[in-house]
Amino acid sequence: MARLLTLLLLTSLAASAAAAGDPHSYADPSQFLVRHVALDLRADFTAHRLEGTAELSVERIDPAARELYLDTRDLEVRSVQRLDADGRVHNLDFLLDARDAVLGSRLTIELAPRENEPKLQHLRIGYRMSPEASALQWLEPAQTSGPHPYLYSQGQAINARSWIPLQDTPSVRVTYSARIRTPPELVAVMSAARADPTVLPPGEFRFEMRQPIPSYLIALAIGDLKFQSLGDRVGVWTEPSQLAAAAQEFADLPRMLEAGEKLLGPYRWDRYDLLIMPHSFAFGGMENPRLSFISPSVVAGDRSLVAVIVHELAHSWSGNLVTSATWNDFWLNEGFTTYFERRLMEALYGKRRADMEDAIAYESLVEAIDDAKAAGLPGDTSLRLNLAGRDPNEGISDVAYEKGRWFLGFLEGRFGRLAFDAFLRGYFDSHAFMSADTATFRSYLLAELARPGAPKIPVAEIDEWLYGTGMPVTTPAIPSGVFDVVDRAAAEWRAGRLAANQLPVRDWLPQEWVRFLDSQPAELADAKLAELRTQFHLGADGNAEIARSWLALVVRTAYEPAYPDLERFLLSTGRYKLVVGLYRDLARTETGLELGRAIYAKARPGYHTTIRQAVERLLQPVTSAGRDAGRCGSPATLRHGPSDECPQSHSRRG
Ligand code: BES
Ligand code: ZN
Repeated sequence: MARLLTLLLLTSLAASAAAAGDPHSYADPSQFLVRHVALDLRADFTAHRLEGTAELSVERIDPAARELYLDTRDLEVRSVQRLDADGRVHNLDFLLDARDAVLGSRLTIELAPRENEPKLQHLRIGYRMSPEASALQWLEPAQTSGPHPYLYSQGQAINARSWIPLQDTPSVRVTYSARIRTPPELVAVMSAARADPTVLPPGEFRFEMRQPIPSYLIALAIGDLKFQSLGDRVGVWTEPSQLAAAAQEFADLPRMLEAGEKLLGPYRWDRYDLLIMPHSFAFGGMENPRLSFISPSVVAGDRSLVAVIVHELAHSWSGNLVTSATWNDFWLNEGFTTYFERRLMEALYGKRRADMEDAIAYESLVEAIDDAKAAGLPGDTSLRLNLAGRDPNEGISDVAYEKGRWFLGFLEGRFGRLAFDAFLRGYFDSHAFMSADTATFRSYLLAELARPGAPKIPVAEIDEWLYGTGMPVTTPAIPSGVFDVVDRAAAEWRAGRLAANQLPVRDWLPQEWVRFLDSQPAELADAKLAELRTQFHLGADGNAEIARSWLALVVRTAYEPAYPDLERFLLSTGRYKLVVGLYRDLARTETGLELGRAIYAKARPGYHTTIRQAVERLLQPVTSAGRDAGRCGSPATLRHGPSDECPQSHSRRG
């Protein structure tokens, strides 16, 4: 009974959350819900456009609603038609609003109620997308590992609207199908089940995603792709020249999936494959369902960076099965996933390894909190954010990931691991294929805490985690001892009691290198840096995390001899965590800022829009008019063309 009540309460809470609205979408899910999207798109690699139709199956929720609002950004909408069951086609009136810099353009479709209207109405939208579509990155052959071009999409957070007109809010879930036509020598993959291509004409691919997912998880990649199986349910896709290395690196995938199911319950997406991307891919990994997109920087040669895979796999539950209802609740996706990532790393590779990841990440959390406070944005250190009017990508920070992770660590401590695992299983089972916001999770937690035998946790302690700034007083002890040996060696070396060639590095894991480099101060002498650089061949190559930590030290100490390596690194990878962190470090000083701008001018064409926007936010001059001044077209913005966020409004009636 109590469970039933909780469920009822939850359903009404989830509904009210959606009605209360997602500040990053024009959709009104209380009027209409898009239930299914059928895409029919052709990829033009010369014009850098996808063109075709999206057929939406729309359910009326409010009997009186007259207009359907969809999200779009930079789409050229040609026609909107209603397809009736008798085969008749009706043109519908539509209006594309002027472009909002963050949200894009609202598409309004006339859809007044009709007598005996079917439960689902089918609307076909004819359109093509801009070569600048924010979701898409078109790569020239030179940017791939072979002689072919490449295209991929990145939907999260609000980019799906730049390639599909839909309700682009994570509070709405859709199933989807697609027909994709490519040049005949290329292969298309999507976050969906793939029809056997051998029964289709060359260059045609068909997909079907039967489980309802939020719009940001609809994903496409096209390139010269090959597949290698790694087990019954798992495998890896990549460009042919990378396939053997990738298969070798991710041989643990079957074990990872089993560990995930053991902790979190059945895997509900049938297959789990990886797509290893070209170097400009914007993220370490992106949890597109059935097919995580993975940065090639994770292929380290020694399986040392597989935490990214474990992380994306964990999103199959936290994020993809139960989804943050708005980007203000992003921590529900990433905090849970980071917690599961560490639990799975512990189960698969031992506690020491998980502790290392925790300790490194905690340092970076402390820095992120300090930075946000210094920037006058203390609200950004809360788990629950308020990003209305801002780009939701501004919510990407260690706060969502690591503060979220430690909130769950705090709860685990109070419940005890066994009871907490049961709590989590219950939460994921009862919310499967639903979206939840912070309030939903909070009331589920409070209801569970009210049960007999549950631990007593004061609500104020929970709310301090969810809504308070900085780290709560109830933060658990962070594992610190794992790096004692490294820290001692680092101190001895700094004090000159140990030469670089006497450091005990023989068995160091990349994580120990990262700690060693991250712990060096800004005052380190050039001679010391030179000693490290020569002794250990530190530069732009090799393990990407070690290179990042080394180059962060180079920036921190303004060690000019290594600037060419910094530039090479920033030109050769497009991954958020590697790139944005270094530009942030550069932006801390005037000379760094200048160097950052010079490098960025060269690197920009190789970065995905999400990365461009994040870097431009960091490199733009702060003026007395506030941190957003100079964003659109003013002479103060960067030298190379207008920012992607600047409006070019157009509107028309069909
Ligand atoms: N879902 C994120 C990537 C993302 C976040 C894309 C926000 C767009 C907006 C993904 O799961 C992620 O967290 N990637 C991390 C990996 C990591 C923390 C192990 C990354 O890219 O580094
Ligand atoms: Zn994630």
